[in-house]
Amino acid sequence: MEHVRKVLELLYDRPAGFFSTDELARAAACSRGQVAEALQQLRQTGHAMEISPTEGVRLIRPVRLDPHLIERRLGTSRIGRSVICFEEVASTNDVAAEAGWQESADGLVVLAEWQRSGRGRQGRQWLSPAGENVLMSVLLEASPRPLPHEAITIAAGLAVAEGIETACGPMGCELKWPNDVLIEHGKVAGVLVELRRREERRFVIVGIGINVGASPPIGEVDARATHLAAHFGDMVERIEVIRGVLRKLEKWVSVVDGGELDSLHDAWVSRCGMINQRVTVISDGVRHIGRALDVNPLVGLVLSCDDGRCVHIPAERASLVVSPA
Ligand code: BTN
Repeated sequence: MEHVRKVLELLYDRPAGFFSTDELARAAACSRGQVAEALQQLRQTGHAMEISPTEGVRLIRPVRLDPHLIERRLGTSRIGRSVICFEEVASTNDVAAEAGWQESADGLVVLAEWQRSGRGRQGRQWLSPAGENVLMSVLLEASPRPLPHEAITIAAGLAVAEGIETACGPMGCELKWPNDVLIEHGKVAGVLVELRRREERRFVIVGIGINVGASPPIGEVDARATHLAAHFGDMVERIEVIRGVLRKLEKWVSVVDGGELDSLHDAWVSRCGMINQRVTVISDGVRHIGRALDVNPLVGLVLSCDDGRCVHIPAERASLVVSPA
């Protein structure tokens, strides 16, 4: 219903202030009765509101994930053509894959307030308290040629770093190969790219976890974790972070599709503090120690090993990167 959407938009677009019923009715061009009906419907769909007898009504932040608020004026043509938000799923990557088997769903975005069994790389868990963070998967299938896993992993990490900065302000988000986004050395986001294939059909799921309102429970993660609100304050809005990331993902996926990997490489490396540093990488159970020379969008980390060899380590198989060694 159009007036329900309009009332939601008005409330969302006024982060701190209240709206009186009269004001909402005027701005949404509907009756006071329709405003009351809209507010009731929005509450029923989970939007929490504060009601003041003198000031009116406002949305309580963080605003619940809402497809309309994410899709509206997004300005992308591919990523986010369709957005679905769930209260709870096992893993958004699995839900996106399931949708991909059912029908053509290129650009589909799946979000959840909570995951029962969120996955990180290398079989690790991805933990996130309900309703605080971004748990998102994007399905990609209509690329002109198979998307190189390596390139899409780093494109997604770059999109997350840039999307966060667009939404929150410049912060110098760093990238740590293969897929971590860091703020002041703390991990704020991670990317898990999965390829699904059945006979002739194949697609890529880009899973993105961003800590916005809360870090994972202490003691449950091995790396130093942080969250956006710790750096930018409580007014960081998840929906804006999601929109920022989707726009940047559209840009970088099209760069990969177009084969312009140099620009991806340059933008990625300019945010990476690992280049020329000593690192230890474990890949396929083998420990490599040396100096990180480069990150290549097709072959992965280029490492000059202490034993004189130069090796290429693909992101998919790197199980541990410690820097400095
Ligand atoms: C990592 O840093 O290890 C990658 C973490 C990826 C987590 C996201 S959350 C949304 C999507 N669904 C999952 O189960 N995992 C990814």
